Amino acid sequence: MLMKTSSDFGGFGAGNPIVGFVVGEVIAAMDSPDGKVGDLFGARLPFRTIQNLSAEELSHTLMWKLTDYLDRSELSLGLGLLGMPGSTAYGGLVDVLRPQQGETIWVSAAAGAVGGMVGMLAKSMYNCTTIGSCGGESKCATIKEKYQFDHAVDYKACADKEALKAAVREIAPEGIDMYFENVGGAHFEAAYESLRRSGRIAVCGSISKYNEAAPERVQINSMTAVTRFLRIEGFMCDPWLRGERGSFLSTMHMLLREGKIAPQETVFHGLESFGDGMRALFTGGNIGKVVVLVE
Ligand SMILES: NC(=O)c1ccc[n+]([C@@H]2O[C@H](COP(=O)([O-])OP(=O)(O)OC[C@H]3O[C@@H](n4cnc5c(N)ncnc54)[C@H](OP(=O)(O)O)[C@@H]3O)[C@@H](O)[C@H]2O)c1
Repeated sequence: MLMKTSSDFGGFGAGNPIVGFVVGEVIAAMDSPDGKVGDLFGARLPFRTIQNLSAEELSHTLMWKLTDYLDRSELSLGLGLLGMPGSTAYGGLVDVLRPQQGETIWVSAAAGAVGGMVGMLAKSMYNCTTIGSCGGESKCATIKEKYQFDHAVDYKACADKEALKAAVREIAPEGIDMYFENVGGAHFEAAYESLRRSGRIAVCGSISKYNEAAPERVQINSMTAVTRFLRIEGFMCDPWLRGERGSFLSTMHMLLREGKIAPQETVFHGLESFGDGMRALFTGGNIGKVVVLVE
C-alpha cells in the first residue's frame, strides 16, 4: 500500500528514521480489506511524506481508520482529538480514573494536547469540577475559556509543592477525587497529598523529568494510600487507539460533532520546523496539539 502522510513526532535514535504519529491518505493500494485509495488513516510510522508498506509491515503497524470520521480538510484532528492524545485523554479518564458525576478532578499540563481534552471530557461527560494547572496567567485564562476548566492554577507562580498544594486546597478545601498526571515531581506529590478518600491518580506522563539526567524520585507516604483507600494506575494509550478497549473514536467523534469538545492546535509549517515544534513541548510554547504540517 502506498500512502501520503503528514506527521507529528515520536521516538528518536541516532541513524534511524524518527518514528511518530502521522495522518494521511491512501494513494495506491493492492486489493485489500485494510484500505482502498482515498481512505484516511492515522498510524505510528516513520516521519516521512510517502509510506510504502508491504502486507507484512501493515500487519504490525499501529493504524486506525479515519475515513468514516473526518474529511480530508480536517485530517490533522486525526493527530489530536481522534489520535494519540485523544485516546490518551479518553482512556485515562473514562477507564482508568472512572469518574462519578460531579467529582473533582485536577489535570496537570492542562493547556496541552492531552490535558486540555481531559478537561473538556471531564466536564461534558461527567460534569466534574475541573481544576487545571499550567504555566502562566495567559494559559490559565485560555484553559478556562477554551477547555471548560472551572479553575486554573499557575504552577509557575507556586514556589514549591506546598504552594501548589495550597493553591489547589483553596479551590477544593475538601480535597480532590482524581488527578490526571502529566508532569511528575512536585505536581505528583502535591496531588497525592490532596486526594480524599477513594481518590485515584491516572499516571499518564512525567514531562518535567524527561530531560533530567538523574531525575529526583517523588517522595510519598504510602500509608496515606492505605488509610484513604487510594488507587494509582499507569497506562498507555495503545489499547484505546487500536479499538481494543472502550469506544474512543465513536465517542470523541460524537462529542466533536455535537460541539461539546473543540480541539486546539499549534501548527508548525514544513519539515524544517520539526525542531521548533518539539521544543515547544518543553518550553510551554504550545496550546493544544503540536502539529507539523508537511505539504
Ligand atoms: N501514556 C500515554 O499513552 C501518553 C500519550 C501521550 C502523551 N503522554 C504524556 O502526556 C503528557 C502530556 O503530553 P502532550 O502531548 O499533551 O504534551 P502537551 O501537554 O501538549 O505539551 C507539554 C506541556 O507540558 C508543560 N510542561 C513542560 N515542561 C513542564 C514542567 N517542567 N513542569 C510542568 N509542565 C511542563 C508545558 O506547558 P506549560 O506551559 O503549562 O508549562 C507544555 O506545553 C506528557 O507527559 C506525555 O509524555 C502519555
